[in-house]
Amino acid sequence: MEKVGENVVKFFIQEFGNVYFNIQKYSTTISEEHRFIYYFDAEGRFMGGFFDGVSYRRGLDNRLMKKFFDSDKFKVKVFVDKDEKVKVIEDVLQRVEKIKKALSNFESVDEDLLLRLDDILKWNYENLERDGFKFFSIYKPVSILPPDQYLSLVLQPAEGCSWNKCTFCSFYQDRKFRIKSPDEFREHIKKVKEFFGRAIGLRKSIFLGDANALIIPQKRLIELIKIIHEEFPISQSKDDFDYVFDGIYSFLDIFGAERKSIAEYIELKNLQVKRIYIGLETGDPELFKYLNKPGSPDECVEVVETIKNAGINVGIIVLAGAGGKSFYEKHIKNTVETILKMPLSDGDIVYISPLVLDEAKEYVKIMDEIGSQILNKFELREQINEIKNGLKNLITRGVKITLYDIQEFIY
Ligand SMILES: C[S@@+](CC[C@H](N)C(=O)[O-])C[C@H]1O[C@@H](n2cnc3c(N)ncnc32)[C@H](O)[C@@H]1O
Ligand code: SF4
Repeated sequence: MEKVGENVVKFFIQEFGNVYFNIQKYSTTISEEHRFIYYFDAEGRFMGGFFDGVSYRRGLDNRLMKKFFDSDKFKVKVFVDKDEKVKVIEDVLQRVEKIKKALSNFESVDEDLLLRLDDILKWNYENLERDGFKFFSIYKPVSILPPDQYLSLVLQPAEGCSWNKCTFCSFYQDRKFRIKSPDEFREHIKKVKEFFGRAIGLRKSIFLGDANALIIPQKRLIELIKIIHEEFPISQSKDDFDYVFDGIYSFLDIFGAERKSIAEYIELKNLQVKRIYIGLETGDPELFKYLNKPGSPDECVEVVETIKNAGINVGIIVLAGAGGKSFYEKHIKNTVETILKMPLSDGDIVYISPLVLDEAKEYVKIMDEIGSQILNKFELREQINEIKNGLKNLITRGVKITLYDIQEFIY
């Protein structure tokens, strides 16, 4: 055995070569010669890995996403079928089992490492599948999160989208919008804590589900956020907890955002709400109507001003490809101009989300009616680059401009 990093040890095992164990407080990563890498949460659940150029990520609902590059070097992401999922999970567990056996030939193996391996081996395919069902007894599906929040702890004080009528969005069509009572929310948090167990410490922040939790009337919202503060350490440590979440985050649609005053946003800031994500989608007023978003691009600018004046950061989401060929230039020009009117600064993010047509049935119908052709993947890439280019001065102000790929999301 050789210690090769603060929490990393290396063993040479005949069958596998150099095997590295990275034992973090809330996760374990095993790497065979850096070619096969697989990782687990602190409870031992398989979370994903890299297998010779193909990467897998397992969601808490036990779906498994596979990512690789196609011949044009575009990233492909697919959910694998059950047979492949069983095969991947069983293969990983067999590897861990063999590695554990091989470790019995070494003299000084850390007890903590052996305990981690025991925990991992408890999670066979059936147990992970059962865990996925349990997840759905606590959560409505977590349909999407902003990419910087993939590692958040989602809590659902509200379910669904209060609008649910944007022509390109089908994230929440499987559920009615509703707001939980304080008692129901406490019960939800209790179950969430039980579900995550020790692995909760791997989560970095709290994300309020679902689509626009900040539309919850202020009095109830404050009540619900105060419950979160009672139950978790947010931004500062708390007795009996060995982790701290860095803040609270949420989506908001433009319509809902109109309704809160600056004083109400300041109240949220004081309760550690750190960033609010708003789907602008386009700065072009005509295209905006076809998307059937509530509000308008100008109202979005006003809302961002209010939120920023309250001292809260924003994440602005833009829909690349929206409007197809007929709107190609107008979408770029008006979106860039609209975003440049916003007082964005350090800590704000502009996300560019390439339009996924499978999820946008109503939108496709409308584009057919107006005779606008969809962009191919090369045109889409070009449009993304042009929007990024138009916004590049924001980078010097500390604003991040990055991709938001809804097909890559798994919770
Ligand atoms: C939960 S939604 C937005 C949050 C908030 N409800 C709003 O409308 O501002 C997250 C983002 O996903 C993106 N999205 C939704 N449907 C999409 C699709 N079919 N293709 C690509 N992105 C999509 C949109 O950019 C949207 O702003
Ligand atoms: S984009 Fe936002 S407001 Fe529109 S339907 Fe989707 S979640 Fe609701």
